[in-house]
Amino acid sequence: MSPAHPETWPVLVAKDTLEPQLYRDFKDLAAAAEESDGNPPLSEQTLLTLRPGALPSGGPGYAGSGDIAGHSVLALALYAVDDDSRPSSAQDLAGLAVVIEEGDGSGVLEVAVHPSYRNQGVADRLIRTLESERGFTGLTAWSHGNHEAAAALAVRYGYRPVRELWKMRLTTATAELPEAPMPDRVALRAFVPGQDEGAWLAANRAAFSHHHEQGNLTRADLEARMAEDWFDPAGFLLAEDPTGKLLGFHWTKIHPRSGKHPAMGEVYVVGVTPEAQGMGLGKALTVAGIRYLQEKGLHAVMLYTDADNLPAVSLYRRLGFSRWDVDVMYGPVPPA
Ligand SMILES: CC(C)(COP(=O)(O)OP(=O)(O)OC[C@H]1O[C@@H](n2cnc3c(N)ncnc32)[C@H](O)[C@@H]1OP(=O)(O)O)[C@@H](O)C(=O)NCCC(=O)NCCS
Repeated sequence: MSPAHPETWPVLVAKDTLEPQLYRDFKDLAAAAEESDGNPPLSEQTLLTLRPGALPSGGPGYAGSGDIAGHSVLALALYAVDDDSRPSSAQDLAGLAVVIEEGDGSGVLEVAVHPSYRNQGVADRLIRTLESERGFTGLTAWSHGNHEAAAALAVRYGYRPVRELWKMRLTTATAELPEAPMPDRVALRAFVPGQDEGAWLAANRAAFSHHHEQGNLTRADLEARMAEDWFDPAGFLLAEDPTGKLLGFHWTKIHPRSGKHPAMGEVYVVGVTPEAQGMGLGKALTVAGIRYLQEKGLHAVMLYTDADNLPAVSLYRRLGFSRWDVDVMYGPVPPA
């Protein structure tokens, strides 16, 4: 039976809650899109926010919540059905759209279309449904890897690039890292779960006061990451002064081998509190984390940074990182 047109397919709308089966379908579609495009279509924060059971139960039938970080979520799923409108199966999720809404009415949109359902108007259908469900004003949209189709869609909806997130990469097998000792009287140690959460959240807030997403991470966000399989406190480095005050941190992450992609390290987040910046601590922490990843046998390390974060981009370039890929955030063109 040949499939009907996306215009006739049912759109399932989930608010704040994803059923486990729907979450699995989202993850499968995201994995298929990543395999095909080379970039994950949903950010880590989105997947953590959508995960069923992320919050304590909110009542009977409650399958999880999308507001673990003070956000709420609107998720749309477009299921392909045959001409005779037989019920769709889990394999037939053709496309999805997720809006993480902020309390102030703004929100961030991510859209993904399964590689088998591209070029049929699936994304367009999802966005138009979103318009009628929510209104589209005030949203910005991520294009991970700046896929050509996403750029074309952005133009059609009157959006333009408003932010660039660079993916940078260093081949650690051949990198010549500089000597970068810790500043005087600053000591390095590993994060201790159950003890360091509060101090780390405060230091993260101070270091990233200019960066809304990272600076506003909550304890629930931190704990969601600590509950992930990849979390290893040994690779979460803290730098403190002799009084035990936290001055900076480098949290590393290891992406395990997946299919034909070898394991890779990540500079997951580096931050130095404002009073300790400019004295070599950021460089020392970054180098210490990369050496830790080298010792774990990883041959390459990647990271994400805002393209306009001059101190960070300069630091990473001096260590030998180069630009690898780019995620583009699109936003509405302001009225003339
Ligand atoms: C980026 C950051 C970690 C650097 O830490 P730092 O301790 O201030 O940096 P250092 O003193 O170790 O300087 C290391 C390098 O950074 C670069 N750098 C630091 N501050 C800079 C600035 N204001 N402008 C341009 N380059 C700068 C220089 O290249 C310097 O190299 P050099 O010493 O060989 O000249 C720090 O600015 C920070 O925490 N910023 C806020 C959080 C953040 O944006 N983290 C990165 C997220 S991707």
